Amino acid sequence: MIVLGVESSCDETGLALYDTERGLLAHALHSQVAMHEAYGGVVPELASRDHVRRTIPLLEQVLEQAGVALSSIDAIGYTQGPGLAGALLVGASVANALGLALQRPVLGVHHLEGHLLSPLLSEPAPAFPFVALLVSGGHTQLMRVEGIGQYQLLGETLDDAAGEAFDKSAKLLGLGYPGGPAISRLAEFGDPNAYALPRPMLHSKNLDFSFSGLKTAVLTLVKRHQTNLCEQDKANIARAFVDAMVEVLTTKCLAALIQTGLKQLVIAGGVGANQQLRVALNAAAERKRFSVFYPELTLCTDNGAMIAFAAAQRLKNNPAAASYDYSFNVQPRWPLTAIDIANQDLGNTGRISNGI
Ligand code: KG4
Ligand code: ZN
Repeated sequence: MIVLGVESSCDETGLALYDTERGLLAHALHSQVAMHEAYGGVVPELASRDHVRRTIPLLEQVLEQAGVALSSIDAIGYTQGPGLAGALLVGASVANALGLALQRPVLGVHHLEGHLLSPLLSEPAPAFPFVALLVSGGHTQLMRVEGIGQYQLLGETLDDAAGEAFDKSAKLLGLGYPGGPAISRLAEFGDPNAYALPRPMLHSKNLDFSFSGLKTAVLTLVKRHQTNLCEQDKANIARAFVDAMVEVLTTKCLAALIQTGLKQLVIAGGVGANQQLRVALNAAAERKRFSVFYPELTLCTDNGAMIAFAAAQRLKNNPAAASYDYSFNVQPRWPLTAIDIANQDLGNTGRISNGI
């Protein structure tokens, strides 16, 4: 079965073809970073318009890359939410129009489920059950994953997401958008002993996070330097920020593994591309004897491959999840644990849903 995946929830248009027999056949991406950079963040209306321009050319690109005809597509998955409403509508419209034209089933996919399952596209893949840390621009959550569609929330951020804290702190340091990669690169030149930033909720006895205070601490340091903030100061602050972030994320992951008794940790979402985080988690994994799995670097941030893959898994588990209806809605706000409700016919697999 060849599944087309369409991702358009934010500032990346991603299309991909996943074959349940042969694996990922092709994926193509257009990032709008350059377009939004001038505004210091994503401008939703511009994002939607750009998705309109990019989706069909990217579809043609993946078909050519994979060497398959449009008519060979067996099913279509698109990101139904969460994300920017206008941006989501573009992918949803294209997916449903294609489905109608080809008379193929169409499936709305939860963006975070795509991220969560993306490490399963790599070798070696984790086996269920595992603990997953979802760290993206909009979310920071620890999940216990029992199987496809079986996600239990263990903890989450009470305010800013990790990626959001990266982006906001980078902005305070005058770095470009998106801030994650920029602050991470700059941190490599920073002195680890120059500043100590708070580690919010490090010892909170639960698996929740809070990052808005960390961002405020960066703001306080920047203000303290007023106009004299030199490049080395910026690098030192970046280093302090990354060290605090990495320590909190790593400590909470270890606590989640202890709490669940599981030995496999999956990292998903854009911040999962962070090298300092990977180094710290790999060291902890060796020390504490657990396995850690990451998506390929190119599949950490938003992409169509994870959406095609998640749709394929859902269809494999439950062919009734596919719709031939072609009426659609998007869900800009959509808790991951609520997908149990959206897919009630998934079968009686003892799913856990505690609502976010
Ligand atoms: O998963 P993603 O592409 O989009 C959302 O679903 O939000 O994640 C984007 C986030 C941004 O906040 C970006 O700054 C962050 O991931 N990010 C990174 C790195 N690459 C992307 N953060 C830290 N280090 C990186 N290398
Ligand atoms: Zn994402």
